[in-house]
Amino acid sequence: MRGKLVVGNWKMNGGLRQNDALLADLRAGWMASPGRELAVCVPYPYLWQAQAALSGSAIAWGAQNVSEHAAGAFTGEVSAAMAAEFGCRYAVVGHSERRTLFGETDAAVAAKAVAALAAGLTPIVCVGETLREREAGATETVVLRQLDAVVAALGPRLSAAVVAYEPVWAIGTGRTASPAQAQDVHRLLRARLSAADVAAADVPLLYGGSVKADNAKALFGCPDIDGGLVGGASLKADEFLAIARA
Ligand code: PGA
Repeated sequence: MRGKLVVGNWKMNGGLRQNDALLADLRAGWMASPGRELAVCVPYPYLWQAQAALSGSAIAWGAQNVSEHAAGAFTGEVSAAMAAEFGCRYAVVGHSERRTLFGETDAAVAAKAVAALAAGLTPIVCVGETLREREAGATETVVLRQLDAVVAALGPRLSAAVVAYEPVWAIGTGRTASPAQAQDVHRLLRARLSAADVAAADVPLLYGGSVKADNAKALFGCPDIDGGLVGGASLKADEFLAIARA
């Protein structure tokens, strides 16, 4: 039985005071519940704060990116081992903002997933098509190309990853994929994962892109959707907790 995982992606938002309040509200509002997991992926400088606020709670935390390199002359980069030192369980890799704004290639994303696992983190590998790609009928080709790079790089470690389908046209736009649109892609991803490795058939598949309290239940009710990766709505404790309970 696959459980449900809801992960907040704060992106480049927050500040010490705001974070204190948000983390305290999440901690107070979330009870451990079997088969349900909640996590927040925060900016690097606040990993210590998430660790301090959430240690001993039922909420996990993680980074939004990691370097594909272990150490060395990579100014401005943060390694997976560094993130792990702050108690991270997760690292998002290949978010569409990283791919489009920072030029991350499929190969770089795959290398980041490998680096995360090597440091004991669970990579949350993001895939998703742009609006232009969807309209050109290229959704399947794009998401499978993105997934296959990670499948090839991880080999037998694939089953330890999480995959998030985030259609780029739905991120931060208020335009959510319909449950049927999301489920179609999730089914495809599930089939590809299980064909690559039977153990990967149960990899958690998260949907991301304008998930809100009022659409989460319908999305999470789909057979191949195991939770969500939530941006904007993860910055408000009540909304995020409502999504997590959906
Ligand atoms: P959104 O972002 O929920 O604000 O659309 C999702 C994401 O980018 O992970």
